[in-house]
Amino acid sequence: MGRDAQAAVARPGGGADDDASWKDDPWLGVFPPELSRQPDPYRLLARLRQYDPVNETPIGVFRLTRYDDVVRMLKEVPSGVRFADGSTFSGDLPLPGGPSEFILQEDPPDHTRLRKLVSQAFRPRAMDRLRARVEVLTDELLDRVAERGEMDVIADLALPVPSTVICEMMGVPIADREKFTEWTSATTHLLAALLSPADVVERGIAAVKELTGYFNALVEERRKRLGDDILSDLIRAEEGGDRLSPSELLSQSIGLLIAGFETTIGLIGNGVLALARHPDQLALLRADPGLITGAVEECLRYDGPILLSVRITREDTRFGDKVIPADRAVMCMLAAANHDPARFDDPDHFDIRRTDNEHLAFGGGVHFCLGAHLARMEAQVAIGGLVRRFGALELRSDEVVWGRSLFRVLGSLPIGLERAR
Ligand code: HEM
Repeated sequence: MGRDAQAAVARPGGGADDDASWKDDPWLGVFPPELSRQPDPYRLLARLRQYDPVNETPIGVFRLTRYDDVVRMLKEVPSGVRFADGSTFSGDLPLPGGPSEFILQEDPPDHTRLRKLVSQAFRPRAMDRLRARVEVLTDELLDRVAERGEMDVIADLALPVPSTVICEMMGVPIADREKFTEWTSATTHLLAALLSPADVVERGIAAVKELTGYFNALVEERRKRLGDDILSDLIRAEEGGDRLSPSELLSQSIGLLIAGFETTIGLIGNGVLALARHPDQLALLRADPGLITGAVEECLRYDGPILLSVRITREDTRFGDKVIPADRAVMCMLAAANHDPARFDDPDHFDIRRTDNEHLAFGGGVHFCLGAHLARMEAQVAIGGLVRRFGALELRSDEVVWGRSLFRVLGSLPIGLERAR
């Protein structure tokens, strides 16, 4: 079997090997999106963590792979998300309305102001109220596949749950979802435009233009009839004067739609894949549905959708025997930190009863994911509902099809279903 064929059936969790020729590893220069689509990105990341944990890539960007280093970079080291000249890791893209002002790409004080405004909608209590709606939605979706005896986990569950929920929360017509699915996945690549091929960046820019036109029209329409949704709240903040500029309103709308859509599809899809590949863990969950909370945390740690988060150093910063100079981009490899044996016992083992599980799938520090409660709740309901309703989840193929976004998100996941007894 050739290298590619081997890679195609490999599973996440391959630990580092002892091959000291790691520098020849062709995957060393591979970043998302290609890295996201590897069957086992953890193998490469384990080698980096073992041989060169503070790794300077040929393009001058650093990669951190140890849990403690990643936590320190996210929470303690003076850093931001913009370079000293104000540009971001997206480069200087010719975006409509100027560079993105999405909260994720802003430093304080703008970040602090935006975070306060946007976070209202994602409080844990608001998520508890939404849970009943997600339960009804999940039941309806599972009703549709029950008679078929098979389903595509992505098209039939992992995509419709988060996309319907974020559209309803934001007040965006669900009928337009097909358009978004295309636009949002293309747009994710702009978050790492410095790494992406030119044609991918061009598709991303075209998609942002579509999203901008779409949201401009929607905002003008909504102004006439403000309601009880996030878009209306953002418009109120903008109309209220100095709290939100028109371009910031646009950036938050587009950014939230993308954040709410793309990532949770990956969590649900990768989570179902991990359970299907570990029938012992699936059986545990079926026997005790109360394990779902820990199971979702383990899905996030074991094979989460976002492999890295970027920070820019504000000053020269020492990590071990290396100094990262000021104003350098540092990729905090969340996926590597989540498999660090110095932090997690038997880290490549999928164990839904793991208790000491403070993973970094949602990042950390001031940019810690605002949608974490929402994503957890959606995944608990969707995965929990699927497991409760059906018996064995039988993978139709050992190979998987990855989607087109920057993140580690499946494009489809066909499984055979058997009714639970
Ligand atoms: C499994 C699903 C999700 C994962 C794995 C995830 C992961 C992340 C990560 C890694 C970050 C960057 C954190 C950092 O740089 O330290 C982030 C930021 C963010 N996420 Fe999520 N996310 C998910 C779902 C969501 C959802 C459903 C929403 C809601 C719409 C959302 C909204 C946001 C926002 C607004 C930020 C920027 C926060 C800031 O810059 O202050 N995310 N997320």
